[in-house]
Amino acid sequence: MIFIHQIEAEETFSVRQPVLRPGKPIESCHFEGDNLGTTAHFGLYKNDKIIGVVSVFKVQNPNFIRKEQYQIRGMAVLEKYQRKGLGVQLVKKAEHYVKEKKGELIWFNARESAVPFYEKLNYKTKGSPFEISEIGTHFVMLKCI
Ligand SMILES: CC(C)(COP(=O)(O)OP(=O)(O)OC[C@H]1O[C@@H](n2cnc3c(N)ncnc32)[C@H](O)[C@@H]1OP(=O)(O)O)[C@@H](O)C(=O)NCCC(=O)NCCS
Repeated sequence: MIFIHQIEAEETFSVRQPVLRPGKPIESCHFEGDNLGTTAHFGLYKNDKIIGVVSVFKVQNPNFIRKEQYQIRGMAVLEKYQRKGLGVQLVKKAEHYVKEKKGELIWFNARESAVPFYEKLNYKTKGSPFEISEIGTHFVMLKCI
């Protein structure tokens, strides 16, 4: 059975590490702001195992004028479970959370390879691609909600 619920920052690491930081130490899975009260983490469970994660941070991007902005980070599904519709469920959960918080805009830095995934969810790229050291080319993407 698949279900999603809110988890602690450290519980995301079992998915963040193999998917987003392969070969890197577990400390590299910690993101600034992970433990702030304004940050929320969600785990997608298959039975009792977390197989997908997403985190939502209350972070303003100075390039956008909307007041209530949230940033998605650490979006990942274990490789074996990708392309089964689970990533969509995680983004929708994050969107639902932001709506509940009266957020107006969701933005994030998307890996180039994930841009088509987010486009299917109606996120748009903004500006030119940029490099994040050791990870690769990214685009800022956003959606008003
Ligand atoms: C990107 C990621 C989170 C998507 O999760 P997922 O569970 O594989 O995605 P879904 O199965 O929900 O995909 C939804 C749709 O997007 C498509 N899609 C997913 N990943 C895609 C990709 N990389 N390129 C093109 N289309 C993609 C799916 O085919 C599906 O299309 P459909 O509705 O026509 O069938 C997941 O593949 C992942 O963890 N990738 C590695 C880490 C990563 O890149 N994270 C994002 C960092 S910004």
